[in-house]
Amino acid sequence: MNHPITARAHTNIALTKYWGKKNEQLIIPNNSSISLTLDEFYTDTTVQFIDELSNDVIYLNDKLLSDNNKIIKFMDIVREKAGISTFAEIHSYNHVPTSAGLASSASGFAALAAAASKAAGLDLNEIELSRLARLGSGSATRSIYGGFAKWKKGNDDKTSYAVSVQDPVKMDIRMIAIVLNNSPKKISSREGMKISVETSPYYESWIKQTNDDLKTVENAIKDNNFTILGKTAELNSMRMHSLTLSSDPSYLYLNNDSLTVIHAVKNLRKNGIECYFTMDAGPNVKIICQSNNVSSIVKKISNLFNNNQIKVSKPGSKVKYL
Ligand code: DP6
Repeated sequence: MNHPITARAHTNIALTKYWGKKNEQLIIPNNSSISLTLDEFYTDTTVQFIDELSNDVIYLNDKLLSDNNKIIKFMDIVREKAGISTFAEIHSYNHVPTSAGLASSASGFAALAAAASKAAGLDLNEIELSRLARLGSGSATRSIYGGFAKWKKGNDDKTSYAVSVQDPVKMDIRMIAIVLNNSPKKISSREGMKISVETSPYYESWIKQTNDDLKTVENAIKDNNFTILGKTAELNSMRMHSLTLSSDPSYLYLNNDSLTVIHAVKNLRKNGIECYFTMDAGPNVKIICQSNNVSSIVKKISNLFNNNQIKVSKPGSKVKYL
């Protein structure tokens, strides 16, 4: 029996999104992406390899999962890399609403990559951890890092990984997550992006546009220009969602509550309170703002939704062992 290892990874929200794979098995994306890691949402995962086990035993928030192929496949990769055949007991605690567009797979696979690799006796650097996390879920590549991180698309397993862009973050930036639906989404990001790649007539334009958006956001980070960062993130998010609308069959992550928040953000902006929104593969909306505007925005949104649905987050830190 080996020692249990616990790692904590924070979720990240893409400012320019990853949407579509060049290689589905190795999770090599068609485009690079850039994100902000958040301190409020994270996953703590403990992994212990135990000789007596005849299969992996996985608990999520203390509940035994009867089967989870994604995790088992991931553990097989870790075993192969470490040259071991022992199964593991895994305990994962998600401080993120699971599968509702708040990127629980990002923090989940980043924490699992860190805990499982170390428990298996591997000593991986950040790039190697990012590559490993990618094999669980693409967005997890970026959750190895704190602050702003960029997933460089690369061409293959060796060259596709994330790097730190800026940590600690210099910009005054906050994200307010409006949690609209805690239930797992109907179309996963994995399925959704595949439909977009295969059927949206606008997919090629997306690739070109998102490359430009990424450069704009990178420069905004360098120049500490919140306005350009926020504007571009909002546009890029809507550009991604327009792929869902133009796919065959079309599908939609936004619901009526998401639209209510979007309109509220636009109204706040009209009234001189600078804020922007971004959305992922679920109905939740994340509002991007600066610290001086947090209380006015929360006040406005709490007229529309319960206070427990509103979570204010600062930039978060990189993966760490507890
Ligand atoms: C909309 O990383 O969940 O959040 O690689 O198939 O596991 P898989 O997909 P996933 O997709 C995230 C999509 C997104 C945008 C982003 O985080 O860049």
